[in-house]
Amino acid sequence: MLKQDVFLCNLDDLDEQEAIELSIDQRPLFAVRQNDNLYAYWNNCPHAGVPLNWMPGKFLDLDKTFIQCSAHGAIFGIDTGKCVAGPCVGDHLSRVALKQKDNNFYVAADQHLPNPPINLRAQALADLEDN
Ligand code: FES
Repeated sequence: MLKQDVFLCNLDDLDEQEAIELSIDQRPLFAVRQNDNLYAYWNNCPHAGVPLNWMPGKFLDLDKTFIQCSAHGAIFGIDTGKCVAGPCVGDHLSRVALKQKDNNFYVAADQHLPNPPINLRAQALADLEDN
């Protein structure tokens, strides 16, 4: 459970269709500005439980219309988090509850923290050491 609000960003810090990342207790999250709103999700793909991005801050498809998972290409609505194409159609990203004070956005206290995403790189390194 998150005990206190955590500052995320000021809306003016982001251009339209730009994302920002943050990690709270090893739980990464991201937020995307669209139409002067901010939509935030835990960075954990519902398909395989891995982070969606492989480059810092890169969460959108080429047209910057959808959130896209870099692992298998699933695409999600920015405002809904719903997967509209790919291997997990109909599933949703897990939304992060935000609080807004003026133009400042905070990750809201009193929300459940998800399990950290699967770290494929660490898993692969551990597998190599075992063999
Ligand atoms: S892990 Fe995201 S589409 Fe497969």
